[in-house]
Amino acid sequence: MYNSFISGTGSYLPEKILSNKDLEDLVETNDQWITERTGIKTRHLASDSEATSDLAYHASQKAIQAADLKPTDIEMIILATVTPDQMMPSTACVVQERLGCKDVMAFDLTAACSGFLYALTIADQFIKAGTHKHILVIGAEALSRIINFKDRETCILFGDGAGAAVLSRAEQNSKSQVVSHHMRADGKLGHLLTLSAGGSRKPITHEILDNDDQYVEMKGREIFKYAIRTMASCCNHVLDSNKLNMNEIDWLIPHQANLRIIDAMAKQLNFPMEKIVVNLDHTGNTSAATIPIALDEAVREGKIQRGQNVLLTAFGAGLTSGSLLMRY
Ligand code: UT7
Repeated sequence: MYNSFISGTGSYLPEKILSNKDLEDLVETNDQWITERTGIKTRHLASDSEATSDLAYHASQKAIQAADLKPTDIEMIILATVTPDQMMPSTACVVQERLGCKDVMAFDLTAACSGFLYALTIADQFIKAGTHKHILVIGAEALSRIINFKDRETCILFGDGAGAAVLSRAEQNSKSQVVSHHMRADGKLGHLLTLSAGGSRKPITHEILDNDDQYVEMKGREIFKYAIRTMASCCNHVLDSNKLNMNEIDWLIPHQANLRIIDAMAKQLNFPMEKIVVNLDHTGNTSAATIPIALDEAVREGKIQRGQNVLLTAFGAGLTSGSLLMRY
């Protein structure tokens, strides 16, 4: 049995920035409310000519370069997204072609904001099995395409962006490795966060478009409580199964949805905010991309060092959630 480790990370945020002040022109809201209730100040938006695969491509190039590899070294691509370029072909195949990766298995994965952790978990199994040495794992979203900019409860939260990591086979006795993961799904609560139109149950019709039903709908308050509970519980599960406690964790990277969710989760885990990577002030919630973007920024800023214990945790539509522990 082999171990996997993250050999390189990359991220990409589109150029265009939407500030809280800009949102004041679109819906009845204000900078103070958004800042106090979410911690978000600005978010990035894809241009009209940019799709999810474009964001994913830029992040992936950086990750492959950071891993000191060539695109032809990559043997599998897993791309987590809820905003694919189109229904088919998969966005992973678009990225594969553009990067120039040869003869790889490439597919999209849908687990909303937990998507990157689900994808890392799958990649880890293939490395452990010994069949693959280098797997590109991407979280990429152009959420601005599925958000209703007339709905003040959702449009203030979300942004566009992509993050990527190369998961590689670790050398024997390497201190860098994915240690453990625990992923969950609770479909009972699926109705709390939905985009129900555009699939096989409710194909797009003129009526759907007339009613603005092609956008994300969310019960924010209910998700808020669930998010705190499930992320804390997933973290405890992973730690317990490895006989570790929170004070042995160097960095915690949670899904970047709301600073108050992160704060409440930190209190439940009795973990200091100084050791939590937070970047939502300038990214907003980029769904599957939040964790790989935050990880890449923290690595490039020199915060996260090789050999440190890093715990990742997420929740999202599904409702899905999970935690993954690695020694970076
Ligand atoms: O990746 C997962 C995605 N989803 C989430 O993470 C959502 C999690 N939930 C949240 O982040 C928070 O619930 C929100 C930020 C969405 C809302 O914050 P809240 O503190 O739960 O506010 P609330 O829904 O309890 O609303 C409080 C008030 C309401 O007015 P009344 O009824 O008290 O008069 C809302 O109508 O704030 C009003 N409100 C706003 N006011 C100004 C709601 N949205 C806005 C807004 N600007 N954008």
